[in-house]
Amino acid sequence: MADATDPLTTDVISPARDEAAEPLPSSGPHVLPVHAVRVSGLCKTYRKTGRGSAKLALDNVDLEIPCGSLFGLLGPNGAGKSTLINILAGLVTKSAGEVRVWDIDITERPRDARAAIGVVPQELSIDPFFTPRELLDLQAGLFGVPLHRRRTMAVLEAVGLADKADAYARTLSGGMRRRLLVAKAMVHRPPVLVLDEPTAGVDIELRQQLWAHVRTLNRAGVTILLTTHYLEEAEGLCDRIAIIDHGRVIACDTTQALLRRIDSKMLTLTVSETLTAVPAALAPFDAELKDRHILVLHYKPSTTPVGAILGAVQTAGLTLVDLMTDETDLEDIFLQLTRGSRAREQG
Ligand SMILES: Nc1ncnc2c1ncn2[C@@H]1O[C@H](COP(=O)(O)OP(=O)(O)OP(=O)(O)O)[C@@H](O)[C@H]1O
Ligand SMILES: [Mg+2]
Repeated sequence: MADATDPLTTDVISPARDEAAEPLPSSGPHVLPVHAVRVSGLCKTYRKTGRGSAKLALDNVDLEIPCGSLFGLLGPNGAGKSTLINILAGLVTKSAGEVRVWDIDITERPRDARAAIGVVPQELSIDPFFTPRELLDLQAGLFGVPLHRRRTMAVLEAVGLADKADAYARTLSGGMRRRLLVAKAMVHRPPVLVLDEPTAGVDIELRQQLWAHVRTLNRAGVTILLTTHYLEEAEGLCDRIAIIDHGRVIACDTTQALLRRIDSKMLTLTVSETLTAVPAALAPFDAELKDRHILVLHYKPSTTPVGAILGAVQTAGLTLVDLMTDETDLEDIFLQLTRGSRAREQG
């Protein structure tokens, strides 16, 4: 869809800014900050409302998102993901802590910080009576992008919506609205793009298109922060992943390191013999009989070599027809880590 001359990806390291604003801090305009986002000791308590009690949504969060990374923020419903994103975007005020976007303190220079970030919100909030062209123009105006720097049609082309430029937004499909929101978040060419559950309710084909676009933006230098419930997607897409639960970051690492941290594998054996029970030799491998010919084993690869399992299969006098290992997936890690953090909380 997009390429190196993509209007959404060129000039990404110089966000549109107020002419009168201070110069970017420390470095010159071509020097990138080490961290696109830096959060330390961040707390957010939503105030008590009517019937509801006060809610601690973020509890002392520290997070560093390296410049240029494709960063995944994972967590169950209510973990605090949107709260964190909305604070970065200047939509929610923090209760305590420090937040820097593109090395700009969001409290000291909120306007500049907002210019450095584009946010695609979780909710599909588009005014139905505007056309895509009008919406993007309006957004560019809000961010003070001067007329001669606006490339509304080129931006719409990049997200495949050029032919819908003058259609009412209410006539767009859900997937098209999602793409329009991505375009809207990118009109001021921010170096950091945040997508809050961009694929919720989006069909598989469109999801893949959206991810391809996200990858292209990332390759062009845009730092991406996304939240998703599709854990396997974060595994395939993100270079770093943070897991947040009950407002706390319980893990933050490279995707590879996070995958290595879990020490559990599953092995499915198909045998030619007809079984009625798990053979004694295989009992130590937490085996279960799935079918009269299929056994599922669970083991720790750090202490159990696969050879030991094959030896036990021989001891049991079984003939292997097929053998399949399941790679550890993020779902396992996620469950393990969240269980761990809950246990510590209760303990
Ligand atoms: N405006 C608000 N007022 C009061 N409480 C809020 C408000 N927004 C969020 N919360 C609460 O803060 C907590 C974190 O919510 P948040 O929306 O950040 O979670 P999330 O990780 O984005 O969840 P989801 O995956 O469902 O989108 C939840 O307990 C939620 O009920
Ligand atoms: Mg959310």
